[in-house]
Amino acid sequence: MAGMTIFRNYSVSRYTNQNTLKMKRRSFIKRTAAFSSVTLLPSAVWARIKAGNLRTAHIGVGGMGFADLESIASHDSAVVSALCDVDSNSLARASSAFPKAKTFADYRVLFDQLRNEIDAVIVSTPDHTHAPASLMAMELGKPVYCQKPLTHHISEARAVRKMAEDKNLVTQMGIQIHSFKEYRSAVKLIQDGIIGKVHTVRAWSPKNWGYNGPAPAGSDPVPESLDWNLWLGTAPERPYKEGFYHPVNWRKVLDYGCGTLGDMGVHIFDTPYTALALDVPQTVMTECRPPNGFGHPQNNVVTYEFPGTAYTTDTLKWVWYDGPGAPADHEDLKLPNEDQLPEQGSMFIGEKGRLLLPHWLFAKLIVDGEYEDITYPELEEQDHYHQFVDACMDKDKTSAPFSYAARLTEAILLGVLANRFPGQTLHWNQEKRTFDESQPNEYLSASYRNF
Ligand SMILES: NC(=O)c1ccc[n+]([C@@H]2O[C@H](COP(=O)([O-])OP(=O)(O)OC[C@H]3O[C@@H](n4cnc5c(N)ncnc54)[C@H](O)[C@@H]3O)[C@@H](O)[C@H]2O)c1
Repeated sequence: MAGMTIFRNYSVSRYTNQNTLKMKRRSFIKRTAAFSSVTLLPSAVWARIKAGNLRTAHIGVGGMGFADLESIASHDSAVVSALCDVDSNSLARASSAFPKAKTFADYRVLFDQLRNEIDAVIVSTPDHTHAPASLMAMELGKPVYCQKPLTHHISEARAVRKMAEDKNLVTQMGIQIHSFKEYRSAVKLIQDGIIGKVHTVRAWSPKNWGYNGPAPAGSDPVPESLDWNLWLGTAPERPYKEGFYHPVNWRKVLDYGCGTLGDMGVHIFDTPYTALALDVPQTVMTECRPPNGFGHPQNNVVTYEFPGTAYTTDTLKWVWYDGPGAPADHEDLKLPNEDQLPEQGSMFIGEKGRLLLPHWLFAKLIVDGEYEDITYPELEEQDHYHQFVDACMDKDKTSAPFSYAARLTEAILLGVLANRFPGQTLHWNQEKRTFDESQPNEYLSASYRNF
């Protein structure tokens, strides 16, 4: 069970490992303590970055991490300098694409050895490692591109945001669709009032990043290529089971992932969240199966209520449907000509009509049950990855910095947490950063394992 608030006295030395790290503990602490006091990049480093290139370190280079690696490396100024993965097969594949980069299995060792040879860090690991790796990178003064959702726990989202702001670092969350013209165009249409003030958004994904079965019994041999202790990182110890966690399926498990809402919901909710200038919800309620202490529920209907903004009525209702069969039938989701709903997407319902936003295509306007033509705004192409590199070199600004991403993530994670209390309306106190109900507050923070 979640317990102590880990970031109150955050320090890099928390991550030192007495048991398994093949490094003398005392010297690691000494060195990490020395670099934890760094707050600004030395001016010589800035000068070099502005003049020429950005040396990048990539943590997690299998799956999406490999795509992130290629996308960052496609910027002329990026120089891939370090690769880190706990699976030697993923590391070998990335290393053969970028043979000059130094390779590591443990991000703590990478930071310890290369702190003066890297300028920016890309974190593309499973969700439970996002905050530990990003905080360590930022403590060294490094800009960070971190995959979505920004963190696994709500307290982590606040801690990551605070550190990025305190150190004034360039940051970007890996919601690359945020930069796509289709979604930016929907933001502009909504903010220009195409359907008037919005009172409800319904969004859906039939993907199934839940698991209703029991925790698997027994254990399987850990593959030779995998360092299971490093994969678990700060998360609770658990025996390795083939097919349950690494790769990809960790999303379904409470201790490592955030279910379908934490996976697809971040992308799909990003546009309404930006367009309607939302912050943190005041209530959240989930309909799903009772908690089983292991996996996220396979089907969820999550209803949020947000305080009103300039683009909404007095309050805004956001309803999320996920899992096989989603979304449930609803009058708001009926399309003209009995058209099929797109597989994933969202519907904005406003005072003057509805805007359908298929994931990730241009929006369609529906008024009085009929489609109406839209003149889409003319927008420039934007590359989410290059924007990050350019921002690190002081030539641009990121569009999904942690100041934004942490709020979006917090809103999403409140819904994920509500899965543990099906059918109960939970009231979130934004100022106190706690629920009015006491039990859910036990799950706001992580309890980090020493590894
Ligand atoms: N933005 C997008 O469109 C998008 C798409 C897919 C995944 N993602 C995100 O990317 C992240 C990774 O997802 P995935 O599907 O690639 O998962 P995955 O399990 O396929 O790959 C994760 C990789 O990270 C490595 N890894 C695990 N722990 C590590 C650690 N402590 N240090 C270094 N390497 C570690 C694994 O060995 C593996 O190579 C997740 O946060 C996910 O939400 C984003």
